[in-house]
This record gives sequence, structure tokens and C-alpha cells, in this order.
Amino acid sequence: MTEDLALYIHWPFCLAKCPYCDFNSHVRDRIDQTRFANALRRELATEAARLGRRRLTSVFFGGGTPSLMDPSTVGALLDDAARWFDPADAIEVTLEANPTSIEAGRLSDYRSAGVNRVSIGIQSLDETALRALGRQHSAQEAVAALALARRLFNRVSFDLIYARPNQDLASWRAELRAALAIAADHLSLYQLTIEPATQFEALFRQGRIVLPDEDTAAALYDATGEECARVGLEAYEISNYARPGEESRHNLTYWRYLDYTGIGPGAHGRITADGALRATRRHRAPEPWAERVERDGHGLTADDAIPADERAREALLMGLRLTEGIDVARFCERTGRTIAQSVDAGVLRQCIQEGYIQQTEERLIATREGRIRLDALLAALVN
Ligand SMILES: C[S@@+](CC[C@H](N)C(=O)[O-])C[C@H]1O[C@@H](n2cnc3c(N)ncnc32)[C@H](O)[C@@H]1O
Ligand code: SF4
Repeated sequence: MTEDLALYIHWPFCLAKCPYCDFNSHVRDRIDQTRFANALRRELATEAARLGRRRLTSVFFGGGTPSLMDPSTVGALLDDAARWFDPADAIEVTLEANPTSIEAGRLSDYRSAGVNRVSIGIQSLDETALRALGRQHSAQEAVAALALARRLFNRVSFDLIYARPNQDLASWRAELRAALAIAADHLSLYQLTIEPATQFEALFRQGRIVLPDEDTAAALYDATGEECARVGLEAYEISNYARPGEESRHNLTYWRYLDYTGIGPGAHGRITADGALRATRRHRAPEPWAERVERDGHGLTADDAIPADERAREALLMGLRLTEGIDVARFCERTGRTIAQSVDAGVLRQCIQEGYIQQTEERLIATREGRIRLDALLAALVN
């Protein structure tokens, strides 16, 4: 039986580079829409020929800023995907959108093109914070874009960044409550991280940005879970909250370590081919990627079978982010390793005793206490 497939499509351009962001995103005076549309379509066709027909469960347009894509490109890619694959009845088609007024104006065209879920990068409802984050929109614009999206789409999510410099518990609670009052059934709430080679990293090194200390960050995280739960949004992943049934099916594919392919600059994939799981990666820089696609039909720079140890490591890193944890039987089938073969037995015992991990015959789960310190936990636990 062939595996179900999730499809990620990367649009690598933004209006401006946000000072905290290390995603594969680039600013250009003029974007050659036709060239990038053709290259994405060509790479999708090449990938489809190699994968064969599969049931397609989700498509995700991510970025960069996919709301800068011509809606006709989104439509053409979705038509292609429906031709090459077998779309599931309840296929989820998400597009990440920034809430500037120009982009909001295109939302209804995206709906006509086949998008049925949008994820809006609001980041904050506080004007001063938006400026500090280098955003190109006001809070008012963001709220208007969200209201419009909610009128057009049944499924709408938005992103906020918290644990920002100088943010205290009371002000975050107030901001989050305001956000929850206008939220639909899904939210992504990220603690600010300082990423390498960003402007924020330089400011952080100079001491011009100070992040909340560990205790404050933990208190902010707890408050976030509490406030969301109060309105029925459950934490189903470290940074993602949804009404049960409204989880992002596309992102669940990553965390459950199932098959997905990624096309576009820098996109990754994890694909079963001839019974082996392979890791694919594509050229990161947009123009060289397009040149490769024009020359070879694809921009692949890596396409490697993943060794069993690495499969187990990846499945643990992904699965322990989820509140549901890891399905042990599925883990063994997918990785060719048991949990016992993949973790340090002494560390696991200690994590269970200290309440960071729960283990049953069916599942391995990081508890809420465990998820708060997941990075440290995984570093010690995973072989
Ligand atoms: C691919 S990005 C962006 C989507 C869209 N371009 C936007 O900015 O609205 C996905 C999300 O990652 C989050 N993010 C990016 N960099 C981050 C950082 N350094 N710390 C925390 N969250 C971050 C932001 O919330 C962002 O909306
Ligand atoms: S946060 Fe979004 S808009 Fe800002 S640079 Fe990153 S991808 Fe682009």
C-alpha cells in the first residue's frame, strides 16, 4: 500500500525581512512571478512522476510570504496537484498570509483558487511590539485581515510571538485574552527565539535585547495553556492550540513522522520509495533553485535513504512535541527500531520518575512538564 501524501510548497519572498526571522525568505525589488510559478509547476510535475499516484491529504503554501503569490499560481498548482495525485475528500489546503491590507485584498481570490484554510502572521496586537518586530502592518490591519478571513474561510489560524523583550505576565495575559476573543479554532503561539545570523541575534549579543528568564518564560507558557484551555483551545503541540478536530492536519503529518514532499527553494521532504524512507532537500537560494529546475526539472540537492538510527531520532524529536506523544507500534514500523533501542535507558527511567515522560505499551508521551523543557530532555534522552 502506498503512503498518504502531504505536499508543502515554499514561496521564498517577503516584503521585508523581519529582524527575528531565519526562515528561507528573501526581499526583491521585483518578483518574477511567471518564472517562479513555472518553476514550481515544473518541479511539482517532476516530483509527481517520481512518486506516482498517491492519496493527497493536505497542501500547505508556506514561506516566506505566500500571500505575495499571484492567486492564479496558487490555482494552477492546486489544479496540477489534483491531476497528479488523488485528493482526499477532506483535503486541507492552507496558505500562510501576512495581514497587510494589500494581501488581505487577495484572500477571496485564494479561496476561489481552492485554499480552504489560512494561517495569518499577526505576531502581536500591540503596536509598539509590532514595530520592534519590524512588521509591515498595524494591529488594526491585522484585526481587519482576520475578520475578513473569518468571513471567507471556515478554518482560520493566526500566529503570535510572545516571551518578547520586556514582556511581563500581566501584559501577555491581556494581549492573549484580546487575541482569544477574536480567534477561530486554531492558534500558533511561539515564544520568541533568537536565531543565528538574524538582526535580533546581533542585538542580543550586544545586550540590547533581553529575553525573559527561564522562570518567567515557564510562567508565560503556563499562562498561555491556561488561557487557551479556558476557551476550549487545547495544546496539541508545544506551540499549537486547537479545538479538538481543528488541528492542522498538514503539520500533524510532520510531527507524526509520516510522508510529505516539499517543493520550492529549500523545501524538505520525507518520502517512502521502494520501501525505504528518504530525505529530500532542495537548493535554498531562489534564483539558483529556479535555474536548476529550468535545467534539470528539479532543484534537488539531496535525496538520501535515512538510516534506522536517524529515523528513530527524527521520529522522537517530532513525536514528543505532540500532546498525544508517539504511537509505539507505528514508531517501530516506520523506523525499524524499538523505543528501547533508540533512547538512553537510564535517562528514560529518570524522566519517568521525575514526571517528564509517560510510557505505556502503546505510547511514549512527554508530559506538560516534559514539554516545557523538551530541548534539554531530548538532548539527554535520544541516542
Ligand atoms: C514562516 S513564518 C511566517 C509566516 C508569514 N511570513 C508571517 O511572517 O506572517 C511562520 C511563523 O514563525 C514564527 N516565527 C518566525 N521566527 C520566529 C522566532 N525567531 N521566534 C518565534 N517565532 C518565530 C512567526 O510567528 C511566523 O508567523
Ligand atoms: S517572519 Fe514572515 S514576513 Fe517576516 S521575514 Fe520571516 S517569513 Fe518573511
